[in-house]
Amino acid sequence: MIYKIRKICCIGAGYVGGPTMAVIADKCPQIDITVVDINKERIEAWNDSDLSKLPIYEPGLDEIIKRCRNRNLEFSTNIKESIAKADMIFISVNTPTKKKGFGAGQAVDLKWVEASARQVGEYARGKTIIVEKSTLPVRTAETIKNILQSVNKNNKSSKYFSVLSNPEFLSEGTAIKDLENPDRVLIGGEDIEAIEALEEIYLNWIDKSKVLRTNLWSSELSKLTANAFLAQRISSINAMSALCEATGANVNEVAEAIGLDKRIGKNFLKAGPGFGGSCFKKDIMNLIYICNLYGLHEVSNYWQKVVDINNWQQHRISSKIIRSLFGTVNEKKLGIYGFSFKANTNDTRESPAIQICTDLLEEGANLHIYDPKVTSIQIQNELKIKHSENLDYCGKWTYEKNYIDAAKDADAIVIITEWDEFKRFNWHEISNIMRSPSWIFDTRCILDPKDLEKLSTNLWQLGTSNKD
Ligand code: UDX
Ligand code: ADP
Repeated sequence: MIYKIRKICCIGAGYVGGPTMAVIADKCPQIDITVVDINKERIEAWNDSDLSKLPIYEPGLDEIIKRCRNRNLEFSTNIKESIAKADMIFISVNTPTKKKGFGAGQAVDLKWVEASARQVGEYARGKTIIVEKSTLPVRTAETIKNILQSVNKNNKSSKYFSVLSNPEFLSEGTAIKDLENPDRVLIGGEDIEAIEALEEIYLNWIDKSKVLRTNLWSSELSKLTANAFLAQRISSINAMSALCEATGANVNEVAEAIGLDKRIGKNFLKAGPGFGGSCFKKDIMNLIYICNLYGLHEVSNYWQKVVDINNWQQHRISSKIIRSLFGTVNEKKLGIYGFSFKANTNDTRESPAIQICTDLLEEGANLHIYDPKVTSIQIQNELKIKHSENLDYCGKWTYEKNYIDAAKDADAIVIITEWDEFKRFNWHEISNIMRSPSWIFDTRCILDPKDLEKLSTNLWQLGTSNKD
């Protein structure tokens, strides 16, 4: 018998829960979806009539919200009621790396997952399918099942729960496209009826050949493995970017040449300031933790190197900037273009901009930061220094609303995010208003050196042989 899903509740209205539920609501008008969150401001922002105030920026998301909100998509803080009404519950809460205690810096803090499981155990009625959406350590489904069973036992109730793993592979900035046209949909679990119920939802817009069924642990581990492999490709090409600079090769040419080999493929070979985002580092650290737990230290050391190269790449860029500016950036104005971890998102989690800016601030620089979507508060939270705050042990930073103010009298511009609009900036004007000798550090290689040839400024592009 196929279980008909009529009501879905998604716990967590963040970068995963929000866009995922928006696309499901758009493709399945017959299903009512409520996205709940403990964060009242976040829910208010999701409900704001001004769509530019949505809590996350994602191309195409606003149009879907406009179509579906108050039709079959709702954002609410009423967690109890939404859980009670749902046939299926997605868990999309935050799963950050633990900051202290056992496994600090590696293991995932499951506090929010556990709280969600307890809420589900308490409020759900009848048969409920629980779907793990957040990236989770392997065997978390087991933890969720244990919690649900013990809540059930304590309450002497006879609710029936089925736990599935259905990891999200969306990439921020292209989340809507990825959700509408995924490479695959992975469903891990044992309960065939529950698997089919979830599959049925996806079949509203995805071909059956793209749905892959595995056991629970394979599904959970596949997500960690996919992210680790992707991150490893970035560290590999970033490692080569340093060698290209040293030897006079060009990393973009090398990437193109190797990418044409079908066995390698051309995607995820763009050298840059290092990977950021909420998943890659967290997932690799988690993989390292699991490997060590099973005594597989060689395996964990292998993955540790991927993270080490990433950190090194960021420091390498800061150090290059300082060396080029005569060995000091103390009290020098530097314009920073881009603070989000990649283009087309306002997400700053693990952004390479954090480490690069921190290094430069520690050297006393005055940073003038411009990003089209990131707010001043976000930068403050990431750098842990208030806007324009004068501390005696480091430089200061200023939030700029336009790129010209960030460039005026600056000794250097550092491009950290590959926002498209940066390519269209008037680089001639920028170069004229900077203090000479000036530098542009293009860590994403988005500028065409030919366009800047006649300008008075020096250009350094990551992974290419630059004049020093
Ligand atoms: C990633 C995975 O791609 C996605 O499947 C998973 O669900 C969540 O984690 P995301 O972090 O949103 O998605 O973005 P992604 O496009 O993977 O980029 C991650 C980081 O790698 C960014 O900082 C990006 O700038 C960097 N990157 C990516 C490169 O430096 N070079 C590349 O070629 C690709
Ligand atoms: P992700 O990138 O994985 O979506 P986010 O941090 O953007 O992560 O979103 C996770 C959301 O989950 C946050 O808005 C947070 O407030 C919410 N959340 C965490 N725990 C709970 C809970 N027990 N009930 C409801 N919402 C929760």
